[in-house]
Amino acid sequence: MSNSLQGRTAVVFGVANKRSIAWAIAQQMQQAGAQLAITYQNERLKQEAADLIADLPNAQAFQCDVSRDEEIAQLFAQLKERYGKLDALVHSIAYAPAEDLKATSPTPVATAFALRSIPALTLWSRSPRRPAAHD
Ligand SMILES: NC(=O)c1ccc[n+]([C@@H]2O[C@H](COP(=O)([O-])OP(=O)(O)OC[C@H]3O[C@@H](n4cnc5c(N)ncnc54)[C@H](O)[C@@H]3O)[C@@H](O)[C@H]2O)c1
Repeated sequence: MSNSLQGRTAVVFGVANKRSIAWAIAQQMQQAGAQLAITYQNERLKQEAADLIADLPNAQAFQCDVSRDEEIAQLFAQLKERYGKLDALVHSIAYAPAEDLKATSPTPVATAFALRSIPALTLWSRSPRRPAAHD
């Protein structure tokens, strides 16, 4: 594994357990030298996140439910204070209400799509990101 992310700081959304795609991404980024903030959705997932990041040197866990605007604002304030600027944001969030999975109309699909894709841009634009050369 190269140290291609040495000196970089990233926040990873979507770690729920060791089968989460976000967890595999976090492990790879850490091995490449990144300093990581991991978010968990709610109090129920806090202990799991703490247990997981015990294996990631220098990683820290923060709570953030992205459907709650105030939690997003609080997270980014915490990250700015802790790390200054961020170099990357990983969005690996998904949610669909169980009953919607049985529905046949496109509306529930739109709901799931909205949570999965739109906040990625919203989150990055609101984060304390390091300006890129093209910003
Ligand atoms: N598993 C697959 O086969 C597969 C295939 C293609 C794409 N994906 C996509 O990969 C991503 C991750 O999926 P996964 O398989 O790792 O599932 P996962 O259940 O492990 O991850 C989903 C994560 O989203 C988080 N989440 C849901 N609602 C949230 C909210 N309001 N605020 C904050 N976090 C919230 C959950 O806590 C969880 O950590 C999703 O975007 C999914 O659509 C998965």
